[in-house]
Amino acid sequence: NEEIFKNVISHAKEYGFVFQSSEIYDGLSAVYDYGQLGSELKNNIKTYWWKAMVQMHENIVGIDAAIFMHPKVWKASGHVDGFSDPMIDNKDSNKRYRADQLLEDKIAAYETEARIAVFGDKPYIESGIIHDLNETKFQNHPKHILAESLQIEMDNALKAEDLSRLKALIEEHKIQCPVSKTCNWTDVRQFNLMFSTQFGAMAEGAEEVYLRPETAQGIFVNFLNVQKSGRMKVPFGIAQIGKAFRNEVIARQFIMRMREFEQMEMQFFVRPGTEMEWYKKWKETRLKWHLALGTDPAKYKFHDHAKLAHYANAAVDIEYDFPFGFKEVEGIHSRTDFDLNQHQEFSGKKMQYFDAEVNPETNKPYGNYVPYVIETSIGLDRFFLVTMINAFEEQDLSTDEKQDSRSVLKLHPALSPYKAAILPLTKKDGLPEKAREIMDQLKFDFNMAYDEKDSIGKRYRRQDAIGTPFCITVDYETLENNTVTIRHRDSMEQERVAIADLQKIIGDLVSW
Ligand code: GAP
Repeated sequence: NEEIFKNVISHAKEYGFVFQSSEIYDGLSAVYDYGQLGSELKNNIKTYWWKAMVQMHENIVGIDAAIFMHPKVWKASGHVDGFSDPMIDNKDSNKRYRADQLLEDKIAAYETEARIAVFGDKPYIESGIIHDLNETKFQNHPKHILAESLQIEMDNALKAEDLSRLKALIEEHKIQCPVSKTCNWTDVRQFNLMFSTQFGAMAEGAEEVYLRPETAQGIFVNFLNVQKSGRMKVPFGIAQIGKAFRNEVIARQFIMRMREFEQMEMQFFVRPGTEMEWYKKWKETRLKWHLALGTDPAKYKFHDHAKLAHYANAAVDIEYDFPFGFKEVEGIHSRTDFDLNQHQEFSGKKMQYFDAEVNPETNKPYGNYVPYVIETSIGLDRFFLVTMINAFEEQDLSTDEKQDSRSVLKLHPALSPYKAAILPLTKKDGLPEKAREIMDQLKFDFNMAYDEKDSIGKRYRRQDAIGTPFCITVDYETLENNTVTIRHRDSMEQERVAIADLQKIIGDLVSW
């Protein structure tokens, strides 16, 4: 699995999907640039989300709020006081860790050391994977003893007593472990994840502002603007796609956890008391959105939050089975009236809605209230990664006669950066001119690739690798009867069709 992940990352770079930011200066940690194909794929994902959320729902509208917001917003939302991770430094190595993750790292270190101490390097290690340790016969293996003993509070750093327990275990099992040697830690400190900067040109008059750590607050503060100007009636939603920034203590796993990333969020405002019904509906609706792209449902699962944030009365993650395990891609949160109430208090402006509908129980209108909110929040970059991992395949196409293989990105055609590639069979005899003519007919409606370099076989493989669903080959027969061949990426089958029909064929195949 690690191998697959590595291959996806290098494929993303090789073909212009994702580059490390400022790479020529050795990169900026946890910041990435989307290349020529990555930005197309990303735009297509945004369109898919926007269509599904805004275009398909009459009661959901979209906005585009600024990244900078009044500093009081983040006081009201709780981010200034509470949006932090526990951080700890190793004084010996000068390395910084997230205290909650440190323990996981240490367990991993123990496992490796324990395995080597007990088994040497055989026969249980193959390609770096521990194969047999989970079998019952190994229940007494130090890995299990250690893991069990390590069920220490995960959000604390290793405390002195934990360390002495560990030391005892190490001695008892004669395990060589690097952890026992490095005990020189600082205290755990809370580290706020918001980036701040100075607003205004005058040094003395400048005010500290934050780069937003979520897009949601831009929606909350505009709740009444949109409701009034759009004459929206509860239940209704406001959607937004935009950048968010978090100074993550540890950033890892490529575009999984970044310091600058994009979110696609929607806040759905409902009558208090109806929120659980809507929470359930949005949970189902959002999972359907993920699965509509053809992903294996076994790759997805819901993960209910056992511990709820201070503002929520229910929360669930939609998790995807990444090569490094099931991890959150999207969160659905029932946020109660917390945010609107907070903004009402901090701004002194009413955040109420008048509901004219008659309550059948009282025979009177529901009247004024602060609506409750169901939020759906998906990380665009994280979903981009899901899309790449899900689509990437290395296929062995060897026959008895020859060895052969291909890398293919089986993207849903609607997401593919190029919808079709036009390939003249040769660079002469008027074929390129004819190919360009066809390209000109199609390029307003579809993002098209044109390629005349290398053999036709190599060109097919290149288009497979970047996920282009169709290759249109212009050959000598084209000049005679205005037909071309279409090669399908996934089946690699070819068919002959009239140029006049291309628009409809491609249109039907790449539509949502
Ligand atoms: N408004 C709610 C909110 O922001 P969150 O669970 O903190 O909730 C929502 O973030 C989604 O944003 C996550 O499910 C994840 O996909 C994405 N996300 C969060 N932090 C991220 C990061 N550092 N890098 C990339 N994506 C991130």
